[in-house]
Amino acid sequence: MDDFQKVCDCLVRLARLIVGGKTADAVRFLQRMAYANRNSDALVWIELNNLTKPLSSSGENRSWDHIARTSDNPFEPRDIDTQFDLLAKDIPPIVLDTNPIFEAGIREALDMVIKEHQRAKDILQAGLTISNKLIFCGPPGVGKTLAAKWLANRLNLPLYTLNLAAVMSSYLGKTGNNVQRVFQFVSQHPCILLLDEFDAIAKKRGDDTDVGELKRLVTVLLQEFDRFSQSSKLIAATNHPTLLDPAVWRRFDVSIEFPMPDEPQAVEAIKSFFDTDAIVAEPYFDALTVSMAGMSFSDIKRTISHVRKQSMVDGKPIETCIVEWLVGRCGVLGKPARKRLSTLLMEKGYSQREVASWTGLSRDTIRKARKGGAS
Ligand SMILES: Nc1ncnc2c1ncn2[C@@H]1O[C@H](COP(=O)(O)OP(=O)(O)OP(=O)(O)O)[C@@H](O)[C@H]1O
Ligand SMILES: [Mg+2]
Repeated sequence: MDDFQKVCDCLVRLARLIVGGKTADAVRFLQRMAYANRNSDALVWIELNNLTKPLSSSGENRSWDHIARTSDNPFEPRDIDTQFDLLAKDIPPIVLDTNPIFEAGIREALDMVIKEHQRAKDILQAGLTISNKLIFCGPPGVGKTLAAKWLANRLNLPLYTLNLAAVMSSYLGKTGNNVQRVFQFVSQHPCILLLDEFDAIAKKRGDDTDVGELKRLVTVLLQEFDRFSQSSKLIAATNHPTLLDPAVWRRFDVSIEFPMPDEPQAVEAIKSFFDTDAIVAEPYFDALTVSMAGMSFSDIKRTISHVRKQSMVDGKPIETCIVEWLVGRCGVLGKPARKRLSTLLMEKGYSQREVASWTGLSRDTIRKARKGGAS
């Protein structure tokens, strides 16, 4: 879209808001335009901001920074019919809710992306291309979205996440246009574009039950991937890599598999999620690790938050809440895990009778497990 078209587009949007009686939205829209263009012709846009300031509903004196954080860039893509935002934005500095725990291979691959970004100029001057199309695969709650945020944080780039509902909910035949609008925006604004639940938009073609709309969408995606700007990065994330169209697969430069946490990673996660309670909870890390086998990082985090909150609201020691959780967990653990747990609990001074009633194991089984003779 050239500048003239952009201005026309803005005028039409503004007219829509005014005709629809949405004066407050129109004022906000003008302020967003003023903000987005503050560097191009400062005087005009400052005047526009000053003119609209007294009109904003609360009348507050909004700084550029405030507008940047609370409003959208007027050129951010929207669905033409519904006016829904096609992208959700996270602007730097991007804050992470936790310190990511990545296995060495993942960390290496992400570090390489960072290094290529830092040497982008040299790489392009040498006629090479930057590896900027990544796909993250893995089960839910293992850090795919977290890794995208971590990269955005490290590269100090805005993170735009495709709003799938807005893209797909548009009228028939418009989904491809929405995707094109998103890629056009991204090509002009260096950022990380996150396509979460990627399997929903890049499903294998050739399935007769698919409506033509979805097939066209994959074709549009392929075209957009091929001309994706070297100044941005694209991250697709999926729980179902096998559903993806093979032609889409080939377009990625980097493919990273995010596994469920192994035992050492689970211990690290437990320690990190207990945060300031870690010293008190430490004697139970081994028992928690055994009981949390097979849980994702996100499940581990949720469980530990629950235990910590329970201790606060009930005024009980954290150890008591941990043991209560372990006892409840015995209901879903297999016999080998319960045997390991029984040994660990007895080492902490709980009686054989207590441990037997918690784990549902006979005292004889517990005794054998302790001796290490049980299978
Ligand atoms: N590798 C990890 N290290 C530390 N914390 C993690 C990790 N993975 C997940 N978490 C915790 O779980 C939360 C959810 O993780 P995230 O959103 O990254 O999962 P996901 O892999 O994107 O899952 P989904 O497939 O459901 O989108 C994170 O915000 C973080 O608190
Ligand atoms: Mg995710």
